[in-house]
Amino acid sequence: MKPINVGLLGIGTVGGGTWAVLARNREEISRRAGRDIRISVVADKETAKAKKLTGGKARVTADAFEVVRDPEIDIVIELVGGVTVAKDLILAAVDNGKHVVTANKALLATHGNEIFAAAQKKGVMVAFEGAVAGGIPIIKALREGLTANRIEWIAGIINGTSNFILSEMRDKGLPFIAVLEEAQKRGYAEADPTFDIEGVDAAHKLTIMAAIAFGIPMQLDKCYREGIAKLTQADIRYAEQLGYRIKLLGITKRTDKGIELRVHPTLIPAKRLIANVEGVMNAVLVKGDAVGPTLYYGAGAGAEPTGSAVVADLVDVTRLHTADPEQRVPHLAFQPDRMSSLKVLPMDEVVTAYYLRMQVEDRPGVLADISRILADASISINAMVQREPAKGERQVDIIMLTHQTREKSINTAIGKIEKLPVVTGRVTRIRLEELQ
Ligand code: HSE
Repeated sequence: MKPINVGLLGIGTVGGGTWAVLARNREEISRRAGRDIRISVVADKETAKAKKLTGGKARVTADAFEVVRDPEIDIVIELVGGVTVAKDLILAAVDNGKHVVTANKALLATHGNEIFAAAQKKGVMVAFEGAVAGGIPIIKALREGLTANRIEWIAGIINGTSNFILSEMRDKGLPFIAVLEEAQKRGYAEADPTFDIEGVDAAHKLTIMAAIAFGIPMQLDKCYREGIAKLTQADIRYAEQLGYRIKLLGITKRTDKGIELRVHPTLIPAKRLIANVEGVMNAVLVKGDAVGPTLYYGAGAGAEPTGSAVVADLVDVTRLHTADPEQRVPHLAFQPDRMSSLKVLPMDEVVTAYYLRMQVEDRPGVLADISRILADASISINAMVQREPAKGERQVDIIMLTHQTREKSINTAIGKIEKLPVVTGRVTRIRLEELQ
């Protein structure tokens, strides 16, 4: 059979990795796909660099739009990034009847509904394994491997940069800002590092996973986000003493009232496997009703790991290229006319447990006042630690872990606690999940 023709848009880190994986494993990949997969044209603004990388084995152009219109091209790989030109390129490729492979999480989380609808109409595939957790085949697992299950929840370490920062803060006792600089030096962080540390990148990936897990449209605007910039050594140490680690988690959960969709620092029991995922590695824990919990671990970024996901999509698309569009796996796992209308819950309605740290005066009745406020809000205390005051100090740290309660209740209680004259400053509140 004649090779399937691919146009690669962007030969940067991931594009270069995709090229390298495909070139190195060409023979095996072709045995799997049933025909040769050939990147015949590469579009990149840096044409000299692209020519050097491809060594004359593909035509190089600076005009990506020329590629999406090229009648010889069957599949377009979009690795341009961003949400403007990339969107125009993908929609133009779809409009020209081409299948698309993309690793563009930001684009899918913001404009995925429109892109998938256009692809559906045209009968073409838009594959996006590389968009979530780099080399981990989590899209395939959620959409196909776990298809028998009613997915109950997903909790993922899906941003390597923030996980690296938290690991280094814990291991080396370094402050947040010093580790962020190190992450940037090593090239882990996104071009705009706030995307990593403020949970934006994780929110993109979580939005995509929630859509596939529950059959809901992409709703990035409803995803709650809180980053890691405010985490202190004190909280990391106290969490550790109580048997927990702090991780930036993306959590999505199906509840009776709706879907929880949230990214924030989270205390998780240190004994859970996922709590021991360190450095830039990613891991996604999925709870299905039939299979129970399953854990997926691996490199969440990088040239060849993400290239691995992109090439896997190329093989899938190649295999299904001639199949009846109706028989293909739906983009978002559920048939487009059978999507769920479950709403995404506002953060106030989310139910979880909490770690609270407050600085108080060390004198009788203080604890009773705080406990009274929590009891009045029906918040039950699960564990409590009071640090001994340093010599000559009258202020002490109190750390409380609560049982599950509604976010709205804890916020009201915190407001009241902060008004007590014996409490200094703000109460630190970090959510806690047992992940059982
Ligand atoms: N900046 C991302 C991370 C890269 O740190 O995980 C891949 O999305």
